[in-house]
This record gives sequence, structure tokens and C-alpha cells, in this order.
Amino acid sequence: MNHTQQIFLELLEDNNLNTTDFTPTQLSSLYIYSALLGTVTVFLKEELWLKDKEDEKRGLVTSYEDFIGLLIKDELASLSFLKDFLIKKGSTKIKEISKVTQRVEAKVLASIVKRPSYDQKTFLISTLKEISKYFLQEEKDQGGRLQSLGHFGLRLYRAFDNLDEVFGFNYQLDSNMIVDHSSPERLYQNAGIGVQSGYSTILLALSNIELRQGAKVIDLGSGYGRVGLVCSLLRSDIDFTGFEYVPHRVEVGNKACDFLDLEKTLNFVVQDLSFDSFKIPVADVYYLYDPFTKETYEHVLKQIVEISKQQKVIIITKGNARGWLMDISNENQWIEPVLLDAGNLCIFQSA
Ligand SMILES: C[S@@+](CC[C@H](N)C(=O)[O-])C[C@H]1O[C@@H](n2cnc3c(N)ncnc32)[C@H](O)[C@@H]1O
Repeated sequence: MNHTQQIFLELLEDNNLNTTDFTPTQLSSLYIYSALLGTVTVFLKEELWLKDKEDEKRGLVTSYEDFIGLLIKDELASLSFLKDFLIKKGSTKIKEISKVTQRVEAKVLASIVKRPSYDQKTFLISTLKEISKYFLQEEKDQGGRLQSLGHFGLRLYRAFDNLDEVFGFNYQLDSNMIVDHSSPERLYQNAGIGVQSGYSTILLALSNIELRQGAKVIDLGSGYGRVGLVCSLLRSDIDFTGFEYVPHRVEVGNKACDFLDLEKTLNFVVQDLSFDSFKIPVADVYYLYDPFTKETYEHVLKQIVEISKQQKVIIITKGNARGWLMDISNENQWIEPVLLDAGNLCIFQSA
């Protein structure tokens, strides 16, 4: 067990432990452990229920110690330092562990948001790099299986959403959103966090594309800007622009961008992409998470296909946007798309 893992176990037992002397990198590890343990508690409850059913069926009694030992060995190997702690607490304390770990997570996040911008940036970069490894492992563990066959191990899609506190995403602004009923566009009124791609989607996408030095990346309908912020923190050399219809989302993204000193290479712009007068700029990569109405998809994708005739483009889709690109990819004989996260994330590449 390393020193930070030891501190984490102490934090779980001692509410008053001071976090002010911890480095941003230590805080990053503590945050990751707490967010993971929160997800583990949900997983444990489900697995325990399944174990009891299985025991009943087979007339067996599997001890909690054996149950945890097997689970850690097979599905939670990266958390083996928590094995003794979980066994000692026993099955009746899972709810309590969940509450305690939430408290630790909140304490660590409260500690980092008080630090100067440079520390917060170090914390974010360290966290994103580390959680990227967990997401890659999760994806590998699924072995390309279809969603309908169930999920193997921890489900991490929402595990690190509280990182949003460090980015300062204020979703309250979405609940006060004034809806422009005259606009036919698909604006996800009041969706808050629901308009953002999961950290897992963004990091999996980034790990699965080759981005040349200085590449230009565009998020079409950039929401609050998670995609751009994450990509720019990890790839300070790329030139990232997010276009978004809803002004308050753009404002929040740009505020985080300025605070983290990313403004030289990252920019969010208020723009209705359905306008005929606006031309989609040439880029190496376009990102789309279900942004458009049928008419706007047709209008925007027509321009991207034209661009793809001049230079290679990568198009990353999350969700149903994939359907639109599948037809285009086939018609234009693009390279076979790469499907990740059971097809929820898809990477297209022109020939
Ligand atoms: C599901 S969100 C995705 C946000 C971001 N790309 C992400 O993945 O985190 C889609 C966004 O597209 C925006 N959008 C919809 N129609 C648009 C249009 N015509 N022009 C610009 N943005 C648009 C919506 O307001 C919404 O914020």
C-alpha cells in the first residue's frame, strides 16, 4: 500500500484529518479513491444480492471475506488496498461506507477548489490522466460485448461527475433557462449535466484517435464545454473550438477556460450552426453528441463531407449521431468506423 492509499484509509476513519497540506497530485489520488469507493459500494450491494441468490440456489454459504476476496481479485484488482477495510467493516456497513466516502470526496473537492488556479490545473490533469486508465480498462474488460449482454465490473460512466465542481459548471443556469419556442433547434432545455458527454466518453475518444501536433478540433454544439476543457488540459498543443447555441453554456465554458489559463488554444463561441450564413470551419476532428434536428444535421454534415474531400477528417459521435454518420461513411467509402462503449461512442474517419 502506498502513502496516499494509507492517508485515504485514515480519512475514512477520521473526519477531522486536515487536507490543507496535501499536494494537488495527492488530492487527485484521494479524490479518485473516494469516487471509486462510492461506485464500489453500489456495485457491492448488487453483487451481494446476486451472491445470496446463488448461495440459496446451491445450498452454500459463501463468507463475506471470500466474497470480497474473489470480487477484488476478479473485478476490482486496482482497489486491492481496500480489501481488508471492506472485510473488517462487513456487509452490514456498506451504506455507512458509502456515506463516509461521499464525505471524503466532498472534503477533497472543497480543498482543491480553494487552491490557486495552477494547483487546480495540476489536480485536473493528474486526475484525467489517471481516470483515463480506469476507463480504458473498463472498456477492455467488456471485450466488445453488446450492451444487452450486461456490464462486467464497475460501471464508471457517472463515477467522476463531481469533477464538474472544479470546472465550475453551474447547471442551475439551465433550470432558469428561458426557452425560445420559435427555435426548432434541439437545445436540451433544463438538461443540466445531461447535455454533457461523460468523462469516460471524452477520455476514451481521446485515447483512440491520433491527433497530430497542433490539430484543429471542433465540438459542434459544445454545451458547457466539458469536451474542450478535457481535451485542452491533456493536449495543450491542439486548437479547440466549441460552437454552441445557448449563450450561458458558452459563458460557463469560457470562464473555466480563462481560469485554467487555456484561452490561447481553447475557445467557446455562441453560434447557431443551422444558419446558412455560417460555414463550418475546416478541422481535423469534429465531435458530435446528438446536437441537431434533421435539417441541421443535413446542413452541417453536407459541409463536413465537402471538407473530407479536401483533407482527412475524423468525426467522433456519441449517442444517436452515429446513425447519421454510418450512412455517410458507407456512401463515401470511409474507413471502417471504430465502435466503443457498446457503440455509444463511434469514431469515423474519411478515406
Ligand atoms: C447533447 S449536447 C452536447 C454537448 C457537448 N458536445 C458534450 O458532448 O458534452 C448538444 C448541444 O448542442 C447544442 N445545439 C443544438 N442545436 C444547435 C445549433 N443549431 N447550433 C449550435 N448548437 C446547437 C445544444 O444547445 C446542446 O448544448
